[in-house]
Amino acid sequence: MFDLVETDDVRWAAVAARDASADGEFYCCVRTTKVYCRPSCAGRPRRENVFFVRTRAEAERAGMRACKRCRPDRLAAGPIPDRVSAVDWERTIQALDADGFAPLGRLLTDEECAGLARSFSEAASFRSTVVMGRHGFGMGEYKYFADPLPETVEALRRELYRRLEPLASIWGRGLGREDRFPADHETYRAHCAAAGQTKPTPLLLSYGPGDFNRLHRDLYGDEIFPIQVAILLSEPGKDFEGGEFVLAEQRPRMQSRVHVVPLRKGDAVAFAVNERPVNGAKGVYRAAMRHGVSTVRRGRRMTLGVIFHDAP
Ligand SMILES: [Fe+2]
Ligand SMILES: [Zn+2]
Repeated sequence: MFDLVETDDVRWAAVAARDASADGEFYCCVRTTKVYCRPSCAGRPRRENVFFVRTRAEAERAGMRACKRCRPDRLAAGPIPDRVSAVDWERTIQALDADGFAPLGRLLTDEECAGLARSFSEAASFRSTVVMGRHGFGMGEYKYFADPLPETVEALRRELYRRLEPLASIWGRGLGREDRFPADHETYRAHCAAAGQTKPTPLLLSYGPGDFNRLHRDLYGDEIFPIQVAILLSEPGKDFEGGEFVLAEQRPRMQSRVHVVPLRKGDAVAFAVNERPVNGAKGVYRAAMRHGVSTVRRGRRMTLGVIFHDAP
C-alpha cells in the first residue's frame, strides 16, 4: 500500500514514477485536458497543468472526466462499504424498478476476483457442490459457501442488502407481502431462520467450454428476498468467450423479452430474483424475471452470486 500521501511533491513523484501502489490513494487531474487519471497512468502531463484530489467524486465535481487510458472509474479501491456507497443508488434503484435489473459497476479488484476464483478448489470453504448436468440445470458446477462466509462476500451481502431493502420492501408490498423487510441483513437472516431457512446461499459458479446455465430463478423456500446480485470474476474476451449473462422478462399476455448485460471482471449486476410489481394501464401486474448464462465457447468463466435469503 502506498504511504499516506502528505504533499503534492510526494504525489507528483508517484505520478512521475507511475507508481501503481498509489492508485486509489489520490487522483491526478489535468487542467488542460479536463481529464483525471490514476497515478500509474501512462500519460505524461506537465507538472504545471496538474492538481491532485483524494476522491473520484472531487475530480468529477471539478468538471474532470475519467481518463480513457487508465480508467480511474474502473478502479475498485478502499473498503467494501465505501465501494458500495460509491454506487449511484438513486439511478440504480430507478433502473431496477423500471427494467428489473441494473449494472452496479465495478465492486471487486482483480486480486479479489482471482482470490475468490482460486478458492473454488478449497473444499473447506463450501457446504455443498452442485454438478449442473446431473439436475438438468445446464452444464458447469457451482458451490455454496459455508458459514462463516469469506469476509469480502459477507461485507458485500451486508452492504448491498441495506441499499436494496427499500425497493425490495416496495416490491413486497406490491406483491402482497404483509410486513417490510428488516433494514439490516443480520435481522433478515434471523427472519429466514425462523422460517426454517438457515443455510447460506452465496455461491461461486464455474463454467468451462460448452457450459451454460438455463434460465432459472434462485428460490429455496417461501422466504424470498426479491433482488439478488451477481459479480463476474473473469475477464470476457481474455479469460473466456461467450458466456453472456442473460435475463428474460415475462409480462402477462406478452412474449418474453430478453436482456444481455455486458459485464467486465469485477463488475456487479443487481436483478429481480423472481417477480416484481409493475404499474400498467389496467393496474398493477406481475413481471416475472428469469436469468441464465449463454454457452461459454472458450476458457473459464467464474462468477460470484450473492443471494440474500437463506436456504432450508
Ligand atoms: Fe442463479
Ligand atoms: Zn490516465
